[in-house]
Order: sequence, then C-alpha cells, then structure tokens
Amino acid sequence: MTVGSFDGWLYDVFMAPAERLGLASRRRDLLHGLRGLVLEIGAGTGLNLPHYGPGPTVIAVDPKMSHIRYARRRQRRGQYLVCARAEALPFRDATFQAAAGTLVFCTVGDPGKGLAELRRVLEPEAELRLIEHVRWERRPTMARLQDWLTPAWKTISDGCHLNRATEKLIEQAGFEIKRRREDFGGVFVELHARLD
Ligand SMILES: C[S@@+](CC[C@H](N)C(=O)[O-])C[C@H]1O[C@@H](n2cnc3c(N)ncnc32)[C@H](O)[C@@H]1O
Repeated sequence: MTVGSFDGWLYDVFMAPAERLGLASRRRDLLHGLRGLVLEIGAGTGLNLPHYGPGPTVIAVDPKMSHIRYARRRQRRGQYLVCARAEALPFRDATFQAAAGTLVFCTVGDPGKGLAELRRVLEPEAELRLIEHVRWERRPTMARLQDWLTPAWKTISDGCHLNRATEKLIEQAGFEIKRRREDFGGVFVELHARLD
C-alpha cells in the first residue's frame, strides 16, 4: 500500500461505521433519479460512485490526488474523475444538468467562491443536491461548542469546519432550497436546491 492509498484507506475506515449506520442509504437516496451530465464535487474516495443509477454521466472532482487514485477502484462506466477544487472548476458555463456533493462544503476553503463556480457551470434549470453537516443553529449551546472545537478539529481533519452555516451560504449564492431533510436533530441536512 502506498502513502497515497493509505490516506484513502484511512478515510474509508473512519467512515465505515457511519456508512453501516445509514449514510450509505442516504447517499443512494440523494443521488436517486439524477440524469444527464452530473458534477460531483469533493468526491473523496468515491463512496458515492456506486450509488448513482445507470442514468447519469458523472464527472467527479476532488483536489486531492491520493483520493482520486483511491476512488478509481469504485469508478464505473460513465464516471470520470478529475483533480479540481470547487473554487476553480475547469468546465465551461452551463455544462451540467445537476451537481451533487456529500460532506464537502464543510471543507471547501472558500465556500462562497465554490458555490459561485457551481452556479456558473450549472444549466439554469439544474439541481444541486447535498448532504452536509452544519452549524447546529437550533441548539445554541451545541453551536457554540462547534465554534469552540472547530479550530482544533480543522487541523486534525483536513480543514473540516464543524460550524459551517452551509444553508445560509447556499442561499446567499443565489440558490433556492426546495427540499430539506434533517438527521440527528438538524446537525446533518440533505438539501435539494435550484437556481433562484
Ligand atoms: C469529508 S471528505 C468527503 C468526501 C466524500 N464526498 C464523501 O462523502 O465521503 C471532504 C472532501 O472534500 C475535498 N475537498 C477539500 N477541499 C476542497 C475544495 N476546495 N473543493 C472540492 N473538494 C474539496 C477533500 O479532498 C475531501 O475529499
């Protein structure tokens, strides 16, 4: 095993309990019914790739080459992996019919720029589907705990912010959230959004 593949292996080991406890089926629900050319951002080790139906062609991007290499073992026909950041997508305007991402906007360095890029590369009628963990606004004590933990957590978890107000950022970027499903009292959300 190379250092790069160890990185991917470690991520999968860390995620395995959550996958078994329901995240895998949440991934399947999120991606169900997507058609056309779909952009996946922050695809990581490719845990979503087996959950796309046979319909869409998927371009999955991630800035980490070690994750891209690891994701190749999950890649299927009609799925392509590209090394890129959400803030600088190497695609023309209005290329995609949909975009998806899971647990990614917590980590994107400049989420406002990433969402503006998504807006640019999506067709006007396109849909954005995300699963994210977010700042726990409904539980102010827990939200403050997330704020307090984030500086340390960021350094050990590759830049993940526990306290991102991702829904607010999505709306500020000009998307309208059409559907929303909560897990764990609202700290995890599934969002289906369209351009406003
Ligand atoms: C917590 S992992 C989630 C991976 C995968 N989506 C999943 O559900 O297992 C976050 C991923 O976001 C990627 N990432 C970090 N910064 C990014 C950026 N600026 N643009 C796109 N992806 C980014 C990381 O490399 C990592 O693979």
